[in-house]
Amino acid sequence: MSKNTSKNIGERIEGLRADLHDHNHRYYNLADPIISDKEFDVLMKVLEKLEQSHPEFDDDLSPTKRPGGDPVDGFEKVEHTTPMLSLANTYDQEEVEQWMTRVGKGLEGEEVVYVMELKYDGVAISLQYENGRLIRALTRGDGSEGEDITANVKTIRTIPLLLQKGAPQKLEIRGEIFYPFEAFNELNELREESGETQFANPRNTASGSLKLQDSREVAKRKLDCMMYNVLAKGEAQTHSEAVSKAGLWGFRVPHNSENMISTSRDAQGVMAFIKFWDKSRRELPFAIDGVVIKVDKYDQQERLGLTSKSPRWAISYKFETERVRTKLKEITYQVGRTGAVTPVANLELVQLGGTAVKRATLHNADQISRLGLIPGDYVYIEKGGEIIPKIVGVDESMRGVGVDLFSSALDSFPTNCLECGAELVREEGEAAHYCPNAESCPPQVSGRIVHFISRKSMNINGLGAETVIQLVEAGLLVDPGSLYDLRAEDILPLDRMADISVKKLLKGIEDSREIPFERVLFGLGIRYVGETVAKKLARSLGSMRAIMSADKEALVEIDEIGERIAESLINYLSQPRHLQLIEKLEKAGLQFHVEEIEGATDTLDGAAIVVSGVFEHHDRSEIKKLIEKHGGKVSSTISKKTAFVVAGDKMGPSKKEKAEKLGVEMLSEDEFLAKISG
Ligand code: IVH
Repeated sequence: MSKNTSKNIGERIEGLRADLHDHNHRYYNLADPIISDKEFDVLMKVLEKLEQSHPEFDDDLSPTKRPGGDPVDGFEKVEHTTPMLSLANTYDQEEVEQWMTRVGKGLEGEEVVYVMELKYDGVAISLQYENGRLIRALTRGDGSEGEDITANVKTIRTIPLLLQKGAPQKLEIRGEIFYPFEAFNELNELREESGETQFANPRNTASGSLKLQDSREVAKRKLDCMMYNVLAKGEAQTHSEAVSKAGLWGFRVPHNSENMISTSRDAQGVMAFIKFWDKSRRELPFAIDGVVIKVDKYDQQERLGLTSKSPRWAISYKFETERVRTKLKEITYQVGRTGAVTPVANLELVQLGGTAVKRATLHNADQISRLGLIPGDYVYIEKGGEIIPKIVGVDESMRGVGVDLFSSALDSFPTNCLECGAELVREEGEAAHYCPNAESCPPQVSGRIVHFISRKSMNINGLGAETVIQLVEAGLLVDPGSLYDLRAEDILPLDRMADISVKKLLKGIEDSREIPFERVLFGLGIRYVGETVAKKLARSLGSMRAIMSADKEALVEIDEIGERIAESLINYLSQPRHLQLIEKLEKAGLQFHVEEIEGATDTLDGAAIVVSGVFEHHDRSEIKKLIEKHGGKVSSTISKKTAFVVAGDKMGPSKKEKAEKLGVEMLSEDEFLAKISG
């Protein structure tokens, strides 16, 4: 290839990257895309292809790298260029006015413009850019030193990897990473499906997500980020100007048009902003916990200066979390598919944050005792980011004479399952009580079948939760296996069943025989074996037989399978009724192994292998297929865990350097072919 063509390809790659960064920014930050999702995908594919055949133009900040890279062992501590301060807080509007008076005095009566924005309820982040490229992302840490979480932050779509034209050469910018409600609820639904405990609130989950060691997992979490502090004072005279410039450089920033940022010269305007958002905050797709008021002009900020902890030029007004009191009518108990018993508080109907509430979760017995609930108590409830409100306290002053203060709502915590009568158990270290009668406790039986037929598992059309309960009650279903024994004449006599619906249901069941093994495995509802884990197990071990014969050591060797999952699997497979179920499903013709690939071996034994460069006899995707066919794992970045690199012509210089530095072996195409054939 002549120099000229190679240069052209380099330019083409650069051009595509710039376009894709631009489209990403338009889509995620401006909500103003100019191409369709499909066109975006096509451009991305073109770029991927070009990058694959021209690894010499490799770039860690390419838009193709958003899905994350190999896991890391920990995060490096790095000192902040400027400390990350906190803000003075108040819950009192009068104190905001007093602060404004102090500011006025501090500036000797000069006119002051205040800028108001939302106080995002998430995790603070500091981003550093050089020559328009994201080079580092640090957590707040202790304010003077943070943790380098760049790899995780790079997966967040609203954070630009490359800045738009016009951005300063060097830039540090700070903001808040948060978990939008919709994505948070989606994550919890998935966790519920795999029998994992749900996350309590979006803020802590955002924080936990950013500390995950595997950026590919972070990429799945759909975090978002809003910027609120530009540390490039030369770029603007005021904060509000800097924020709107940051929007042009590619960041997600609040917009005046949506009233998410506004300015005012007087207390009246400031209070109006506070009032508006206190009322409207529930309409936002993410959580805020107040409003931040700042002096807009940078030179005035500087003159006001800082105290030891926080700037004098800003204050945050925190909203009172809305809390109402209502009467606890009774506690009922729900038995889930895993047998866990959840107490639910049934409340006298009350309005909270614009919705009528009559139930609140109590999680488990510990929660009841922590709250010290007595039957008939008046309780306070609050609504956070969660869907179901929670009880946060008791109004003891409402306890009338004659109330036995030594009694407890726990006294009536059932000792036996209210659904099937079995004695409840509570295992050491577990917060929940369980009904041990997994085999025939009705909500457990129907819960397992409902999980099995769900969209992400067997996706059985024409069958819903209500029908399952009906069929379980009629004794026609006892486990997922019995679905395959159902006959039209059994179902037709049931309520709400007609010829057409029965046909549809039976066809749905028939079609499910083709569902791939990984989804069958997920459908079994083994604790901690969610969608992703099921996929991993199926792909690594290939069949149910192989999973059944693997011991704990073999299981934990699989990438991302830890002790907790391995133990749960072994426990599940040690129970005869589960083995019977698997046999029954196998006989019914369901998929219990991954479709065989002809000539496949496990020579490479799960090794992580990086492919770089161009090859004489194969293209890169063929090499990757060969790796997978022979039991290896293709990985995109070189790390200590890389077994070897299949290195072709024109391997990217940065990759080569990294491999040499880490002492990772580099095999030529021929050496690699010899390895897999021998
Ligand atoms: S300004 C020098 N603006 O609140 C202070 N902070 O309690 C710079 N926060 O650590 C902070 N929204 O994580 C600022 N619009 C906003 C904010 C905001 C949320 C967080 C931030 C900070 C904490 C202070």
